[in-house]
Amino acid sequence: MPDFDFEALIHEEKVHRSLYTDPDIFALELTRIFGATWVYLAHESQIPNPFDFFQTKLGLRPIIVTRDGDNQIHALYNRCTHRGATVCRQAKGSTRSFRCPYHGWSYSIAGDLAGVPWREGYARNHKEDNRFNLARISRVDSYRGFIFGTLNLEAAPLVQHLAGIRKPIDDWLDRHPGGKIAVCEANRMKFKGNWKLAYDNSADGYHVIFSHRSLLMMENRFSPDDEKGMSFYKQHPDDGPIRVHYYGNGHHFKDKRPTLANHPGALWQIEGKHPGMEGYEAELREKYGKDADYYLDLAAGIPMNINVFPNLLILGNHIQVLEPLSHTETATTWYGTAVVDEENALNGAVDAINALRMRTQEQFPLFGEVDDLTNFEEIQVGLGAEEDPWVYMDRGLGLPDRFTEQDGVISGPATDEVFMREYMKHYKTLMMANPTLSISRGGEN
Ligand code: FES
Ligand SMILES: [Fe+2]
Repeated sequence: MPDFDFEALIHEEKVHRSLYTDPDIFALELTRIFGATWVYLAHESQIPNPFDFFQTKLGLRPIIVTRDGDNQIHALYNRCTHRGATVCRQAKGSTRSFRCPYHGWSYSIAGDLAGVPWREGYARNHKEDNRFNLARISRVDSYRGFIFGTLNLEAAPLVQHLAGIRKPIDDWLDRHPGGKIAVCEANRMKFKGNWKLAYDNSADGYHVIFSHRSLLMMENRFSPDDEKGMSFYKQHPDDGPIRVHYYGNGHHFKDKRPTLANHPGALWQIEGKHPGMEGYEAELREKYGKDADYYLDLAAGIPMNINVFPNLLILGNHIQVLEPLSHTETATTWYGTAVVDEENALNGAVDAINALRMRTQEQFPLFGEVDDLTNFEEIQVGLGAEEDPWVYMDRGLGLPDRFTEQDGVISGPATDEVFMREYMKHYKTLMMANPTLSISRGGEN
């Protein structure tokens, strides 16, 4: 495979179209990004009990995240060591073992080979050789429930890699009782475009008012007070309090909380209201009096937009996961999240809160994400023009006093492309490295 001169393809103000259109660059990304850096795999609440499993991907590698009988988490390759068939064909579930549907080899939930049918037909005992255990991602670690994996033994520890982006993640979690959420079902979408188009857009405040015009109009039809989440972007958004912060290692955060009034119920006030919500709101208000505002705030989407390179986007109450399928196709899955209230800190209000939360989480992906996906697909079409190769990301660049830099965090106005320029610098470093990737097999021998 050819290597590439990434210095020539990635400049501060612009990047070359081939980053989005070249299948050989995509193939390199599968090792240098989706292999060599920490990649989000799943959330612990998706495998809550011993023997639970959940299917995911590391780049194109099919992975089963499992929890064994001792509560140890593993990330196994869904690839039989006999002749390569997938051993697990269910998206999620609970099992003591995986039996390959092809010739019946079976593996424990921790990935160790457990049985080979009619083994007298073999000269060796495969169970004595850990080569026949399922391959597994060599390093798996969690941060507050978010499970990541990497094949790079040289990568910095996960907490160090997440660095400053941990603070917004902490804030996002800590507003819930027990500092926890549970990941629920999802809106699943795909687009015919490169995965980076979605990451480029993840903190883009420039497009909102133009791309999401119909959603804004709909929001205002239901409650025309012009105070709803996205209306901020209507006039002079760069003079307002919303900022984008870049933390290094490709991670960034669009903090929209400063536009919020500081009182219980403020978040609920700016939530888009839709038919079907009124009953739950009335029930909470009647039953809980002034505490209802706090409970309704828990149902409303928090205006935070946390982007963990390369594939985890936490926005509102959603967890969006990007999954590259090819250089021109990407799956984008928006998992809903629910409040968990193990200690009954919410006095029995949790079910009504989660019912409302389901409705609040319908709005953006169903009415807004489609706008974005259309743009991504149309960019992919536009980038087919070979003679016009540059994609510009210089908004804000070169303007005096536009950015602040403190403790390594770069901050800029809401519509600036500073986060793109910075993440592309990190991308370039990763793409110019030559990492060694390794799997492990578990077992003692
Ligand atoms: S490929 Fe799995 S048992 Fe043969
Ligand atoms: Fe958007």
